[in-house]
Amino acid sequence: MFWSKTRKALRARGVMGINQRNGDYILRYNKRSLYPLVDDKLKTKKMALEAGIRVPELYGAIRTEQGISTLRKVVDTHRDFVIKPAQGAGGDGIMVIADRFEHYFRSASGRIITQDELEHHISGILSGIYSLGGHRDEALIEYRVRSTELFNRISYEGVPDIRIIVLKGYPVAAMLRLPTRQSQGKANLHQGAIGVGLDLSTGVTLGGTWHNQRIERHPDTANAVAGLTVPDWEDCLALAARCYDLTGLGYLGVDLVMDRDHGPMMLELNARPGLNIQIAMDDGLLRRCGIVEKHLDALKGEDRPAAERVEFSKQQFAVAGVVPQAAEEQQ
Ligand SMILES: Nc1ncnc2c1ncn2[C@@H]1O[C@H](COP(=O)(O)OP(=O)(O)O)[C@@H](O)[C@H]1O
Ligand SMILES: [Mg+2]
Repeated sequence: MFWSKTRKALRARGVMGINQRNGDYILRYNKRSLYPLVDDKLKTKKMALEAGIRVPELYGAIRTEQGISTLRKVVDTHRDFVIKPAQGAGGDGIMVIADRFEHYFRSASGRIITQDELEHHISGILSGIYSLGGHRDEALIEYRVRSTELFNRISYEGVPDIRIIVLKGYPVAAMLRLPTRQSQGKANLHQGAIGVGLDLSTGVTLGGTWHNQRIERHPDTANAVAGLTVPDWEDCLALAARCYDLTGLGYLGVDLVMDRDHGPMMLELNARPGLNIQIAMDDGLLRRCGIVEKHLDALKGEDRPAAERVEFSKQQFAVAGVVPQAAEEQQ
């Protein structure tokens, strides 16, 4: 397995293990009472809207079996939309509807879906098959984010998302996750998406990993994944940093998406972000978090404004030799 083979090399780069993450970061920086804010996507969305953070528009929420009959009305005026469990994780239970076809719907991966199937899927969500701990859940129906031209070249039928790890409001690591044919319109690594490390300073893509193996090109589009610049990178960093002020969670995984028309949007927040980002970045989280913690010690815990925190991170975590391309060169 990747971890055991390269453990020594990774340790030298300050890699964070699962026990360290749980004990020294999640337990230490994330108050349990704050978890419900991020474990329920409906709550996160409301909170973000109140703070003026852009999120995909909510078309409707279904809470009960009787409520399923309202689906028709909720999606009546939309050709495309996304259905997801409010308390889901890892991309499970998410259905991306990209279009309609006669009386049917068409999923992001091109599958024809009937109204009955959609309703059955929602019934599954309500019964809790996708929710943490198997509790009863709600189904959210929301705006489908459309990918930008640039991202379309390196994704297969879905929007990539940008994961940024934020420690006490300081971005420490970032990766771009690219949907593949296998991941069916979703950008979750466990579903078969690709993780691509990002230079925190510039938003330029570094190398990619797929199923924990290094890759150079997207397996479906054959385009190179390295050397592209994420648009609106400054906004992405600012948004991620603000999510700390929004939630009070000290160790946070912020997921953003880039919409063709609306720019960066916050998709969800994670209080227990995964460790795979280290493989994508080819760098250790422990090393990077240590730099922020030392800085915080020097500040004696004093909170600094988001813009200043972002500036600190950009300086500290710049990858040497990375130069962003001009937008027109990337077209
Ligand atoms: N509104 C949306 N529009 C387009 N794609 C979406 C939308 N919501 C989710 N997805 C796709 O599904 C993936 C997982 O969604 P997310 O809301 O982060 O749920 P999870 O907690 O299961 O990871 C995203 O990375 C994205 O690729
Ligand atoms: Mg996610």
